[in-house]
Amino acid sequence: MKIAIGNDHVALKMKLQIKEYLQENEIEVIDVGTHSSERCDYPIYGEKVAELVVSGEADYGILICGTGVGISLSANKVNGIRACVCSEPYSAKLSKQHNNTNILAFGSRVIGIELAKMIVSEWLNAKYEGGRHQKRIDMIREIEKKQLFKLSEKKEDKS
Ligand code: RB5
Repeated sequence: MKIAIGNDHVALKMKLQIKEYLQENEIEVIDVGTHSSERCDYPIYGEKVAELVVSGEADYGILICGTGVGISLSANKVNGIRACVCSEPYSAKLSKQHNNTNILAFGSRVIGIELAKMIVSEWLNAKYEGGRHQKRIDMIREIEKKQLFKLSEKKEDKS
């Protein structure tokens, strides 16, 4: 399995710890940065990880910022991404089983490293259940398609 991981300056230490945890578990990691504690903007890293996931270069993504909110919001702007912020393992597990999340996010200012590892483990080990959940995932996809259609209509109006 290949995981893309990204973070902002606030979450550098936790990103390195999670990266090590994944590698210890024989998981290949693509680290998109940031690689320093210099102040930076989380949307850059949210988008980078999201692009790797939708292109199939990574199976899943993990994003960490101060709260996990900004970086997951950014990733969710990329079509096909279902990112969720989790501060406990139950939601992480269910987010995979029911919502087929492809990116997990959390906040280095919110949770400690041991809880973060537990959340990652529950999420990675959970399997999407499909069945009755697929209809809702398809509905999310339809929202994305509608937005893209509106955008293309606007462009045509201008040309
Ligand atoms: C950076 O100060 C902080 O805003 C960021 O890490 C994150 O919490 C945003 O959602």
